Amino acid sequence: MNQLKTISAEILLQLMINNNVTVLDIRNLEEFQNGHIYGAIHIPVEELSKKHDIIQSNNLIVTYCGKGGGRSDRAATILNEIGRTSLPLEGGYYSWIQKNIDLTNHQQNEIMIHQLFEKESSSYTYLLADKITREAVLIDPVLETVDRDLRLIEDLNLELLYILDTHLHADHITGSSKIKKQTGAKSGVSKKAGVCCADLELIDGQEIKFGRFTIKVLETPGHTSESLSFFCAGSVFTGDTLLIRSAGRTDFQNGSSSELFDSIHNKLYTLPDNTKVFPGHDYNGFTHTTIVDEKRLNSRISNKKEKEDFIKIMDNLKLPKPKKIDEAVPANLQCGKQIQKQSI
Ligand SMILES: [Fe+2]
Repeated sequence: MNQLKTISAEILLQLMINNNVTVLDIRNLEEFQNGHIYGAIHIPVEELSKKHDIIQSNNLIVTYCGKGGGRSDRAATILNEIGRTSLPLEGGYYSWIQKNIDLTNHQQNEIMIHQLFEKESSSYTYLLADKITREAVLIDPVLETVDRDLRLIEDLNLELLYILDTHLHADHITGSSKIKKQTGAKSGVSKKAGVCCADLELIDGQEIKFGRFTIKVLETPGHTSESLSFFCAGSVFTGDTLLIRSAGRTDFQNGSSSELFDSIHNKLYTLPDNTKVFPGHDYNGFTHTTIVDEKRLNSRISNKKEKEDFIKIMDNLKLPKPKKIDEAVPANLQCGKQIQKQSI
């Protein structure tokens, strides 16, 4: 049998930066859960012959096991025999860890992120852009600050591709529709929101590409049933799911404290510890945090907090209804187009 060529960790990193590769972890579930290359698909080598259809892209597939050779060679051979193009990672996951290759840190230095504030609702809007290609995405724009956001996009010579909302906001009207009209960018909101005017109905695991970057959609229900978080280049944009030392209220729009606990623990707290967290609001002057700091310091939902205690806290917040809820939710169901009151 011919000796398989291998790919080094450094080359793999370059391919990942350019979105030119699918990474496949073929170890067992326990090994995978103990640590893996972020974004890798997991299919144990024993199941690969039956489950290879899970890998939908036509990219080169890089397989890896613990230390290289053996299982990852076997997996690459199986894939090559069925007509896919595959190479094993030299030295396996051990080599990736040893070389301290961190895609997250690398991309953090490459992406442009602007955090923009709207003071009446204490909301954050985020402008993400590729510094080289100038393609950009706007997350959670607010109607009142659309002109400022558009000016910034123009000043920076960016091409806006997408406008994404983390959820149907109750405290402000989204700027999505107005910006879409002026830029031609596509709007996106959770499929679960049932908003028919959105161009993209987003689902868990969906990928949105701009320039050299990919946003991964994470369904994180709890604050509202259609809440999403967006992971991109070592940062996660959490809307009202995870706030700085806090978590979004769960007392309207099909909110659920139990679901919010699961979303934060199972989706957000499993991201790499150094992931930067950019929330949808902050009422105390903070701008961002990290996953590891929230696991340790979040008084509502640290990683030590039991689910029952969290639910008790959330059930007793007794917060007043958001001032704009009756106006904002119906408008946001129309992508931010305000509903004209009919005079009879
Ligand atoms: Fe909200």
